[in-house]
Formats: sequence, C-alpha cells, structure tokens
Amino acid sequence: MDPSTSPGGSFQHPAVSPVGGPSSHIRSFVHRRGHLTPSQREAWQTGMPRWGLPWQPQPLDLERVFGREAPRVLEIGFGMGETTAQIAAASPETDFIGVEVYTAGCGALLRRIADQQLTNLRIIQHDAMEVIREMIQEATLDRIQVFFPDPWPKARHHKRRLIRPDFVEELANRLKPAGILHCATDWAPYADVMREVLSANPTLQTQSTTPDGFAPRPTYRPLTRFESRGLRLGHEVFDLVYERRKGL
Ligand SMILES: C[S@@+](CC[C@H](N)C(=O)[O-])C[C@H]1O[C@@H](n2cnc3c(N)ncnc32)[C@H](O)[C@@H]1O
Repeated sequence: MDPSTSPGGSFQHPAVSPVGGPSSHIRSFVHRRGHLTPSQREAWQTGMPRWGLPWQPQPLDLERVFGREAPRVLEIGFGMGETTAQIAAASPETDFIGVEVYTAGCGALLRRIADQQLTNLRIIQHDAMEVIREMIQEATLDRIQVFFPDPWPKARHHKRRLIRPDFVEELANRLKPAGILHCATDWAPYADVMREVLSANPTLQTQSTTPDGFAPRPTYRPLTRFESRGLRLGHEVFDLVYERRKGL
C-alpha cells in the first residue's frame, strides 16, 4: 500500500472521493495536501493492512473484526490520535474504531497502535458520514465520540459542520439504548448549535445536570491536541453528553 501520489511525499486522501464530487453530500472536510513523516509513512504502510478496516458500502461485522463481543466506541475525526490511543490503552475491555480522513493522522495513530501494542483499536480512513451510514449497523455502539470537530466558523461554511440534525439522527440510531453520544468543542457559537441540535433530537436525552446543558469533561476524556491549542488561545471548552433513550 502506498499513501502517496508523488515521490516527494505529498499525498491525497486515498480512500475518499473529491469534495463535492458527483455522488457526495456536503463534506465536513477538505482534502489536504500534506507531508507524511517517514515514521508516519512506514506506520501507514505496515499498519493499514493490519489495523485498518477498508471502506466498504456494506455493514461491518464488529464481533468478527475484534474476535470478541465487547463494548464498542467509535470516534469521528481523531486528528493525530493521541487521545484515541490513550483512551483505548486505558480501556482494554472495550473495542474502539477511529474514523479519520487525514492520512498523516492515520499514520500517526497507526504508529501509536504498533508502539503500544494496542489490540482493541482499528482505523477506518474514510468520510465518517459514509462510514456511519453504510458500515455501522443500528444499535451496535456503546459510545460515539466527536471531539473538537472542525468548527467551520464562517457562516457560508456552517453547512459543512458535522453536528447537524440529519447526521445526529443517524448517529443516535447507531447507538445502543443508553449508549452515549459525546461531543466537545472550544468554539462557543458551535457549542450552542450542538446543544440545540442534540436537544432537538427526540431519541437523545442530555446527561447534563446544570441549567446551561453542558457537562463536565468526563474522566475518560484526556485533553486533545486541538483542545490544547484552543485553551492556549483562551477558548472555553464545552462537553455535550447525551444518552440514547432506553426503549427507543
Ligand atoms: C479540528 S480536528 C480535531 C482532531 C482531534 N479530535 C483533536 O481534538 O485534536 C477535526 C478532525 O476531524 C477530521 N474530519 C473532519 N470531517 C471528517 C469526516 N467526515 N470523517 C472523518 N474525519 C473527519 C479532520 O480531518 C480533522 O482531523
């Protein structure tokens, strides 16, 4: 496998069709040309066949993938994967699937999986909206985590935001009853929109115990790379934790 399209190390996402391409919905990301470090490239090449789950427009058999029946967490947009690896290492009894489009990020997380010998984490390098729609079956996930999704601050880009009613409906549907949808952002206007969208979904129920509707950072979530940058800029951080109502 070779992630690059040029000998100089520039790459394009190998697994996703172009932004706004003929068959696509509005993408929550743009293709980035970027550079893979030699370590990320090597980890990507050796790790993807081992810990990568290829995109397929059919449901995944998660029990077969992990070889066991265990609680399952799916993360959307893990970036460089530091937090993902930390959470997976701290919860060996749970299986994790990380979804990210960014090749360098996948390489970085594959490096951590190899170095830490994590057996409970797999990667899908593809648009999470399609992964959720096609690969994840109804009521199969114990938690979905979306930590610091791109805030797309300009009004003309709001349509690219991941947390929007149609996608939240699909996310809620993939959770088991009492499963958790956990989002976090350091962009206050997006936090307000997230709270509005999540609260409006009839399948979800907030776990917040405060009038503002936000939750304290759960102990299982370490600070993420993007969050640390936000904190350095003086941003406030908002966690939103919702449960899929039991019996729905
Ligand atoms: C702002 S970064 C946050 C990364 C990480 N969660 C953190 O907190 O450091 C958002 C990430 O989401 C990824 N992303 C955006 N839309 C995505 C999608 N539809 N499917 C998979 N990954 C996506 C981007 O490539 C980017 O790495």
